[in-house]
Amino acid sequence: MDLFLRISALIVFLLLFSISKRLFQKRKNFPPSPLFLPILGHLHLLKKPLHRSLTTISNRYGPIVLLRFGSRPVLLISSRSLAEDCFTKNDLIFANRPRLLTGKHFGYNYSALGWTSYGPHWRNLRRIANVEILSTSRIQMFSAVRIQEVKSLMKDMFQDSELGKPVMELRSRFSETIFNMIMGMIAGKLYSRENEAILEEARRFWKILGEVADLTGIGTFGDYPSLGWMDFGGVEKRMVKLLRQSDEFFQFLIDERRRMKTKFDSSSSVDVEVELENKKTFLDVLLSLQEKEPDYYTDLMIRGMISTLLSAGTDSSALTMEWAMSLLLNHPDVLEKAKAELDMHVGTRLLDESDLSKLPYLHCIINETLRLHPPGPLVLPHESSEESIVGGFEVPSGTMLLVNVWAIHRDPKLWVDPTDFKPERFQGPEGLKEGLKMITFGSGRRGCPGAGLALRMVSLSLGTLIHCFEWERVGEEKIDMTEAPGLPMPKLHPLKALYKPRHTMFNVLSQL
Ligand code: HEM
Repeated sequence: MDLFLRISALIVFLLLFSISKRLFQKRKNFPPSPLFLPILGHLHLLKKPLHRSLTTISNRYGPIVLLRFGSRPVLLISSRSLAEDCFTKNDLIFANRPRLLTGKHFGYNYSALGWTSYGPHWRNLRRIANVEILSTSRIQMFSAVRIQEVKSLMKDMFQDSELGKPVMELRSRFSETIFNMIMGMIAGKLYSRENEAILEEARRFWKILGEVADLTGIGTFGDYPSLGWMDFGGVEKRMVKLLRQSDEFFQFLIDERRRMKTKFDSSSSVDVEVELENKKTFLDVLLSLQEKEPDYYTDLMIRGMISTLLSAGTDSSALTMEWAMSLLLNHPDVLEKAKAELDMHVGTRLLDESDLSKLPYLHCIINETLRLHPPGPLVLPHESSEESIVGGFEVPSGTMLLVNVWAIHRDPKLWVDPTDFKPERFQGPEGLKEGLKMITFGSGRRGCPGAGLALRMVSLSLGTLIHCFEWERVGEEKIDMTEAPGLPMPKLHPLKALYKPRHTMFNVLSQL
């Protein structure tokens, strides 16, 4: 009886608490908010994958909802126009990042580009990244690296098919290729398959990267003020361990490049200088800056920069390729159209980056993939630095902003047949307008600086795969498109497919 009374009193207390908070919020003209529990707030409503359970909440409460994760206020946005409100007129207010465990550990105590808040330090990092690695001219300068890595993938696949291995698991191959492309730009390394020792080093790092992706996100109890003590799974401990491992790898790269640079610098040969200039990698640029300002451009800062670029760029691009191939295998008519476009404009040689502008249908396929399966189903969280008005509602200072890209990309008010795979929707002048509704790369000041590089890597690799090989599903069943939790968003079941060289490309492939 005593227990029954206590439980009843607790329930009444919880209800009164929640109702009084709601009444308070109504007076302040805050956005709508479901009933919440003390301490937990709305965390009990969240399930994995997070974007789907947030979509369920916004379907019930509307496109703008104020939530509480623990005691942290969270603004959930699920419409294109409200997202625009946040990233245009309120862009500066929402340019900070919240302090989450991922940023503490993998963002080097919130100092790395992706996790540091808005201010002079962020502006400087962003400028360096934009100018020295992600600008159109730098991307162009490293086109040979991308072509080399695609060739190496084609060669391996061709040899495997000749050895009678017709089934391929695509995710790991795609990650390897994209990782190699980015590493080529950062550290001047080509992870060719011939060198097993180097490949082993890279594999060790992919493993770490995969585990980091599993831990990244916003669903960790330790992320919420007042709930840190509930870190039952020891997530933070795992983060510390993974960081130590990846740091060793980054420091190894820095030391190696520093040794090479010293060797070049001490040489008086003009040829070597010219060669070094031509091959000036991102690490070389950072090491030169370190010589001028060693207190600011520390090894830790450089590790943070490499880590951000590799973790932001590798899986997002590789998973886009995996989703695209899965969609194509489920839609052979689209695959045939893409092949016909490649045959018409490229013929029987290997696809080159200079061909990409002549392949509009390939770009439509990539756009439609990014619409249906955005690697970041939620834009990386932002945080407001002062009070703001969004969609006519008041939003308190220090609110974490979550924009549900996945829901916006499937909003029936924006898209015809929103869940269907129809690359044709992006064709022609009308298609250009459709493209503007997408928010795959975020928007505003904090929008993705790597979009140009990502599209270049994905279209070159995907185009070459379609052009060089015939593809088929393993068995009659359609490819299962279930999503797994994680950021970037993976398929639950890694894609496996049957492939064989196209007879028109056999000669080219056999000579690689
Ligand atoms: C298909 C591939 C990619 C997708 C879908 C993607 C998407 C995104 C999104 C949604 C954000 C958050 C934007 C925001 O907070 O408003 C972001 C941030 C970022 N991305 Fe990408 N990205 C991709 C590839 C890349 C690549 C290849 C790189 C570089 C190698 C890169 C570097 C970054 C960086 C450095 C940030 C943090 C920017 C900041 O906080 O200021 N991304 N990306």
